[in-house]
Amino acid sequence: MRSSSRIALPAALISVLACAPSDEAPRTADHHAGAPGIGDSDFPKAGNGGYDVSHYWLVLDYVPATKRLTGETTIDATATQGLSSFNLDLSGFEVSRVSVNGTPAKFERAGDELTVRPGTPLGPGSRFSVKVTYAGVPKPAKDTANLGTYGFIPTSDGAFVACEPDGAKTWFPGNDHPADKATFDFSITVPAGLTALANGEMVGKPATSNGKTTYRWREGHPMVTYLATATLGQFTLREGATAGGIKNLAAVDPKFRSSLDTVYNLSAEITDYWTTVFGPYPFSSTGGIVDNHSAGYALENQTKPLYGGFAPEEGIISHELAHQWFGNSLSLRRWRDLWLNEGFATYAEWLWSEHKGKSTAEAMFNTYKARPEDHAMWKYPPGRARPRDLFNESVYTRGAMTLHALRKAIGDATFFHLIKTWTRDHRYGHVTTEEFVDLAERLSGKQLDSLFDAWLFQAKRPA
Ligand code: TRP
Ligand code: ZN
Repeated sequence: MRSSSRIALPAALISVLACAPSDEAPRTADHHAGAPGIGDSDFPKAGNGGYDVSHYWLVLDYVPATKRLTGETTIDATATQGLSSFNLDLSGFEVSRVSVNGTPAKFERAGDELTVRPGTPLGPGSRFSVKVTYAGVPKPAKDTANLGTYGFIPTSDGAFVACEPDGAKTWFPGNDHPADKATFDFSITVPAGLTALANGEMVGKPATSNGKTTYRWREGHPMVTYLATATLGQFTLREGATAGGIKNLAAVDPKFRSSLDTVYNLSAEITDYWTTVFGPYPFSSTGGIVDNHSAGYALENQTKPLYGGFAPEEGIISHELAHQWFGNSLSLRRWRDLWLNEGFATYAEWLWSEHKGKSTAEAMFNTYKARPEDHAMWKYPPGRARPRDLFNESVYTRGAMTLHALRKAIGDATFFHLIKTWTRDHRYGHVTTEEFVDLAERLSGKQLDSLFDAWLFQAKRPA
């Protein structure tokens, strides 16, 4: 689902184009290859052009002892142009079969691009379904974006799955860029005794036969690919609801057994508080997973933030849960705007601290503002996240400072009204920095170009 930029062809024209009766793929002007990237110049091969995914159905079987993942992914999509072929992003694995609308299709692989050539070309606007059967030992991604390892990462008892920015392709084929969101169904089979956790809510009861258990999960709200997870292993669960009535699930690895109630309680309290600051919770459940993989970081996986190798405290929980609004409900169209995720989530940590009567956002702002002029943060403009250093501290901290500078310029009432309007207007959609600046100017009635320019785009400390 791409929230805008859909092509709107008259129905009559669509039917003319779609009905070219032919068995071979005619390479006419009407049908051509879908682009190998979605159009984000910082990540030229991420995502793909020519179609828009509406749903992923992932059927997976993982055996921790051999680290082998067997998958069958079915993707429902709409062609946004006539397609003689199209690409999916997939890294590693042996692909044994691809079919389009139930008919076997030719396919080729080159790097992380899987090119699918349906027997019959797809007309613009046509809906189609592609099924990919694959298996192998997943290889996590490394070195992109100056992160450690990310993607599908084997652990001693299962797998830790955290994929931002482009690691979804390490476990399922798809349109791996946040500009294309879709709903998800998961069916994950693991050795009996293990638990498989994915986004959204569990469907039915886990079913065990022949020493294996299958867990089904469904995320019925649009989700970007990097937020999908299939974290599995030994887990203790606590389920219930927040005081505000949102379903809540905490799951912890045995090593972090003592953090179960804290994760459960803090996730509930913080989710409810954020609804009063950011607006209605966008999804059907909240919670958190603590796994024993010592990533040292956390990822805001939709409905179930994942904490890697530590018992999280309220600061990081407030950050990951703020992402459910900023990043997950309102998603990036292009990676360079990452401060819209990380600056907001970091500012949320300051707001949480303020709410708890600890340090105020103003005090945090002043502390960081006091950093010397030659501090690296002032040289890195957060409004332009760089592909090889996406998660730079400036994107987080100077991004958060930008919001505080804005709050001071327009006042608390307008600022918090702006935040709620922002999350409401773009719920489940996509956003850019320009759209945020426009809304801030509209609601405040102020000219804010120089404020945003100084905070987001200049390679020096704002005055
Ligand atoms: N978005 C995460 C945060 O700030 C950081 C992050 C980026 C991450 N990529 C990741 C964490 C991959 C885990 C795995 O909360
Ligand atoms: Zn974050």
